Amino acid sequence: MKEQRIALVTGDGAAPEMMKVACEIAIKAAERDGIKIVFEETPMGWNAYEKFGDTLPVSSRAKAIRLGTVFFGGVGDPKLDNTLGLEHPEMRPETKCLLALRGGMGLLLNFRPMRYYKELDYLSGVRPERIPPEGINQVWIRFLLEDSYFGREYILHHLPEPIVQEFGFKQKRKVTGEEDVISEPAYYTREMVEKYFRAVFAHARKHGLPVTSIDKANMMSRYDFWRKIATRIGREFPDVPLTHLLVDSANALLFTPAKLHGDIACGNEHGDILSDGAAAAVGGMGMMHSSAVNPDDGKAMFESGAGTAPDLAGQDKANPLGRILTAAMMLEHVGAPNGARDIETAVYAVLRNGYRTGDIFSPNDDPGKLVGTAGMGGIVLARL
Ligand code: IPM
Ligand code: MG
Repeated sequence: MKEQRIALVTGDGAAPEMMKVACEIAIKAAERDGIKIVFEETPMGWNAYEKFGDTLPVSSRAKAIRLGTVFFGGVGDPKLDNTLGLEHPEMRPETKCLLALRGGMGLLLNFRPMRYYKELDYLSGVRPERIPPEGINQVWIRFLLEDSYFGREYILHHLPEPIVQEFGFKQKRKVTGEEDVISEPAYYTREMVEKYFRAVFAHARKHGLPVTSIDKANMMSRYDFWRKIATRIGREFPDVPLTHLLVDSANALLFTPAKLHGDIACGNEHGDILSDGAAAAVGGMGMMHSSAVNPDDGKAMFESGAGTAPDLAGQDKANPLGRILTAAMMLEHVGAPNGARDIETAVYAVLRNGYRTGDIFSPNDDPGKLVGTAGMGGIVLARL
């Protein structure tokens, strides 16, 4: 069997419980494709701070980058963010770990497929008559670098010190609310936007999907730039239909999801906001799954995109299905497509058979089939 080593970040809150079952399922499913997955513990988050005094230990960052494939459970916990995080704002794991991994691994493309589960239609905010009989195929592809997320670093590293002084642009670790000016510039570079759109159009061509590109070209120069590049690169793919849409209009279409069928290209900040909305509109946050990929060297991180459910930590209640579906995306990436399909089929079957965790349970569901994190994992595993 071919060995595939993966950096495992079990994470904070209820993430370790969910990751435990997702890892078992990934290992078993990958065997189908002759792949032996070996997870290497890679501590990050507040749990790592408690043990090593750092939410992103240097060795963990190095290991993630060296192995090049990361299964990421999620970091952060509002309670600790508001205690330890106030004393040590530079340690806040969401910014510290995620920006370092996304930037350090060059994770430009963030795929967030949105699924509508017929048997969970009460989770969707969409009126049933607006769901087309053929279902929904929305693949959000968020540009995961640059923009405002990386603006602070950009200022710090690229602007001459006198300008930094004059305008008060500093990498602010601690915001007091008393500053005269606070700014983090949002930027895009041509090289990255071109690379991004080539990857988006190639994905759309491969899957026979149209592309909708979201921007704010009527107001912001970086999105004027974005639209011009999208149009220019689109000419290299004349067979792929391209539509431009302003971000506010896109937001209004989240509840008529068929209008957003296909690959949806969006900036880092827009993508963060819209993808949660799309997940909630279409099928519920707990089911969200996501991958982030470097299109040049294939480095990738797999994180569900949903939170760490800290209020459910240690209670065996959090819904592991988002992490399990994320594991399927990971198997596809490491060359285990049959295992990936098996996982998806198993998840659908388990939902169709009525098994539910608390977050996706409705009064019409069978209380006898209400299960916890480990229970849900066990049922999916048995189905494989
Ligand atoms: C996401 C998350 C992150 C983001 C947070 C945790 C920093 O919301 O992956 O969508 O804003 O990118
Ligand atoms: Mg988000």
